[in-house]
Amino acid sequence: MTEGPRICDYGDSTYRQDFWEGQGRDYEDAVERRVLQKVLPASGFRLLEVGAGFGRITNEYQMFRQVILLDYSLEQLQYARAKYGDDGFLYVAADAYRMPFWPGVFDAATMIRVIHHFENFPAVIRQVRQALADDSSFILEFANKRNLKAMLRHLFGLNDWNPYALEPIEFVDLNFNFHPEYVEREVAKIGFETRRVVPVSWFRLGLLKRALPLRLLACLDSMLQRSRLAISPSIFLELRLPGAPGKRAVSSSADPLDILRCPQSGTPLRRDGDVLLSESGTRWGIRDGVYDFRRALD
Ligand SMILES: C[S@@+](CC[C@H](N)C(=O)[O-])C[C@H]1O[C@@H](n2cnc3c(N)ncnc32)[C@H](O)[C@@H]1O
Repeated sequence: MTEGPRICDYGDSTYRQDFWEGQGRDYEDAVERRVLQKVLPASGFRLLEVGAGFGRITNEYQMFRQVILLDYSLEQLQYARAKYGDDGFLYVAADAYRMPFWPGVFDAATMIRVIHHFENFPAVIRQVRQALADDSSFILEFANKRNLKAMLRHLFGLNDWNPYALEPIEFVDLNFNFHPEYVEREVAKIGFETRRVVPVSWFRLGLLKRALPLRLLACLDSMLQRSRLAISPSIFLELRLPGAPGKRAVSSSADPLDILRCPQSGTPLRRDGDVLLSESGTRWGIRDGVYDFRRALD
């Protein structure tokens, strides 16, 4: 068997406590939520959140009847499940390079603060594309390598990499920043149309965040978002998968087995207690309500 791309495994890491809770990032969290409300469709049936983590922003998807949280970390998903419960939510522990979904079962997808962990980002986008129905929307956030700070550092010779070069930069093991033109080019190759480019999080400076009220910073950020100047540290893309309107193939079934399939063989699954059996004989576990497709059972 050939080895796939490396995975940044959060496992039972303390990402929530170390990065978000009480860590001075209320501004980043607030502006991301505001942007999501601007770029998400007004209503929809089933949304896929890729790399949902502990469900930090999952409560922004209330316009959808069903939300599927996919993440490689079982522990982050268990935390999310304890918070959101099972009514309208489904928790899937899986590798984003091998998603366990039937084609065309979602009418929207989001991926926020995740692609910096993908050494083969187009391969994941192809998986998202396959899981989406025609005429769907996909909100993709990425860390921008051509940001103002990197440009200034480059000007003064302080960077050992070029922010204007299109290829991704791996600044720490399995942590990449992307050039906006590279991302737009790659998503276009896979069939997505870019509807909007929203530059976000302009004021990521501890001094500013401490000195100015969050609401003021968020308002100023909204104003700069309209500039379309793609030189902020974070960029949101509002993408659309074209298709004939009205041709949506999203079924309204709430049965997880109408959404999930075996990621190895692509065959249907049947449930036996806390085990999912594929037609090809592979067995997958359900652990505390989380459908676990990371490793097949023996
Ligand atoms: C920085 S966190 C972001 C979480 C969430 N989107 C947020 O904004 O709070 C990145 C998440 O991507 C997940 N991840 C990384 N590589 C993955 C992969 N190959 N498949 C599925 N999830 C992955 C990690 O487990 C982690 O929860």
